[in-house]
Amino acid sequence: MNESFTLRGVTFQNRVFTASGTFGYGDETTGLVNVNKLGGIITKSLSLKPRDGNPAPRIAETASGMLNSIGLANIGVQHFIDEKLPTLRSLSTKVIANIAASSIDEYCAVAEALEPFAEIAGYEINVSCPNVKEGGLNFGTDPNQVARIARELRRRTEKILIVKLTPNVTHISEFARACEAEGMDAVSAVNTLIGMAVNIHTRKPKLSSTTGGLSGPAIKPVALAKVYELTRAVKIPVIGIGGIATWEDAVEFLLVGASAVQVGTANFISPATGVTIAEGIRAYCASHGFADVDAIVGALIAEKNRSVIDSWL
Ligand code: SIN
Repeated sequence: MNESFTLRGVTFQNRVFTASGTFGYGDETTGLVNVNKLGGIITKSLSLKPRDGNPAPRIAETASGMLNSIGLANIGVQHFIDEKLPTLRSLSTKVIANIAASSIDEYCAVAEALEPFAEIAGYEINVSCPNVKEGGLNFGTDPNQVARIARELRRRTEKILIVKLTPNVTHISEFARACEAEGMDAVSAVNTLIGMAVNIHTRKPKLSSTTGGLSGPAIKPVALAKVYELTRAVKIPVIGIGGIATWEDAVEFLLVGASAVQVGTANFISPATGVTIAEGIRAYCASHGFADVDAIVGALIAEKNRSVIDSWL
């Protein structure tokens, strides 16, 4: 069974990645799960300087999901290089560094700091965090800004560049087209949906930042429709994210055209979810007589132009 997937000449052993922010920096879970069975690990977002993030409470459970408002708390790129990279170096699975920033210069500076390290296969560019006032959605909801960031990063690296898109826009395909035009290798979608929850006894929002990002199974149908839109709009690979908790969820994303998937919130229940999902995809393909997972990518049987999305493209 061929499960591999290649981006910019880098081959990932399978199509299941951990989503940024749900698997630490890749080194915390090595004693809990055999991370070498994953297609790849995507690190927590890294900024140039360490960030404390938003004040607590910054997590709230919701029906079939959760809200977070972490505010891109992270140890900063230099600490990552000094403290985390040595462990990642010993892994056989590929590592993608997620980069968050509040300016184009900062995105470039973080990528440049990581450039010398061969154990970083590429970068996922976070232009979609809904929990910060600078950067995040200010960039990710403006296709011109997304294009500028992509262009500047492409000038600085030959490594894989993936842009992580927000679903909090009307036509996500517009953003993917901008990425494709600027030489991005893939887009990943979707980051969280802006959401809110209220404690009716205190009459206060459950999150200190009032709103946060909704993730988990609650968002899967929305994410799937966004991925469906994206795979019809661009030729570059789309990596599906959003509420994937089982191999059946992952197969749905592959059928609508995602080339690979990321597992996020489900890692908080079991960090082994990604490995289980990879095994499930393999078994599904074998039982349907497919020798290559690629055979199910985009294999959805759908009437053309039946969806409202088709009329936008
Ligand atoms: C956060 O750190 O607030 C979440 C990150 C994200 O949604 O990109």
